[in-house]
Amino acid sequence: MSRHPRLSAAADALPASLFARLYERLARFSGDVIPLQIGDTFLPPPVRLPELPFTGDRELYAYAPPQGWAPLVDRLVDKVRTRNRIPVAHDGVQITCGATHALSCAVGALLDPGDEIVLLTPHWPLIRGIAQSRSVIPVEVPFTQPVLAGEDPADVLRHAIRPRTAAIYLCSPNNPDGLVLDEHTLGVIAEVAQRHDLWVLADEVYEDYVYEGAHRSIASLPGMAERTITVYSFSKSYGQAGMRVGYAVGPSLAMAAVRKMANHSVYNVPQAMQQAALAALDRGAPFLAEARARYQQTRDRVRAAITAPCVLPQGSTYLFLDLSAWCPEPDCSMGVLEEIAEAGVLLAPGAPFGEAYAKWARLCFTAVDPARLDDGIARVNAVLARIPRGR
Ligand SMILES: Cc1ncc(COP(=O)(O)O)c(C=O)c1O
Repeated sequence: MSRHPRLSAAADALPASLFARLYERLARFSGDVIPLQIGDTFLPPPVRLPELPFTGDRELYAYAPPQGWAPLVDRLVDKVRTRNRIPVAHDGVQITCGATHALSCAVGALLDPGDEIVLLTPHWPLIRGIAQSRSVIPVEVPFTQPVLAGEDPADVLRHAIRPRTAAIYLCSPNNPDGLVLDEHTLGVIAEVAQRHDLWVLADEVYEDYVYEGAHRSIASLPGMAERTITVYSFSKSYGQAGMRVGYAVGPSLAMAAVRKMANHSVYNVPQAMQQAALAALDRGAPFLAEARARYQQTRDRVRAAITAPCVLPQGSTYLFLDLSAWCPEPDCSMGVLEEIAEAGVLLAPGAPFGEAYAKWARLCFTAVDPARLDDGIARVNAVLARIPRGR
């Protein structure tokens, strides 16, 4: 059967980036470009690479153990048991190339093509593509607004569960709106997962950045450790996004499958980067305390300054802006974001966070230092001021 040049259906299903249009408009701007579209931090990590006493000269250049570097795995088993209260076995931890790789491996390990995964929405955009790249069907369930409006989360979820539903993906604190799921809501999700015998993928990469309420791992609830894979990231906790170290934890049998997926995609995570991750864990407590305090102050300042409405995020590093008042029907926020790009500021378009959010945009308030952030907010406000509302 002739095949070339047809590509895989899974690759075809992946959405193209919306940023090309914004970059075109950005090219017309000649000053300081302020990138508020990406989820990163301007803070240097707690330990920089040149300060590290890398150990095991030959080991740094050799293939590393497929599960992860033993001292890091040991330390994470301890961290997850004590801090997250997840009763994980030693073989229930897998080091991955960031949480992105962890989630990709988890979806591959747990779900079959044609299975459905419920995404509590608005959701982190890449989870949709991760599912689609494995021919798993993402099913969006608008969650934050109904829950904040006092609807019973059980009612919200009830209609989403169908015969091919195999898993629920949740992110707390959530990217993009910073919602921190409280114990009651987590309990309801847990009850639904148990009643329908579903897997749960818990994305807890922002566990260290909670400003109101407390972070609780759903896998620590009764009966949940055996059906939940939880992912974490050094990118978010310690400002080490470029180092690509994250990890997944879960029940041993499922994690053996995650390990196979990880080994068949990257084999192992570079050991030097795992050593940097361990150093951050060992010495990073002051960094976390300072970063959390600074992020919270910045969140409050930016929320007060920005013209567009948004709920106060309880955690994470984003404001999710409702730009509907500036978008004529039936447009999405792209027109507004193009004008903002022409003023030298990039925001993330809302559509990839869920179908219902085409008129929204996400702003990362930790991506640049406070002075540039203020400049960026002033430019966004100036653009919004010139666009008639309700046009
Ligand atoms: C909610 C969420 N999950 C996962 C990731 C992936 O993080 P990593 O850099 O560890 O791959 C991100 C990164 O932005 C994120 O925001």
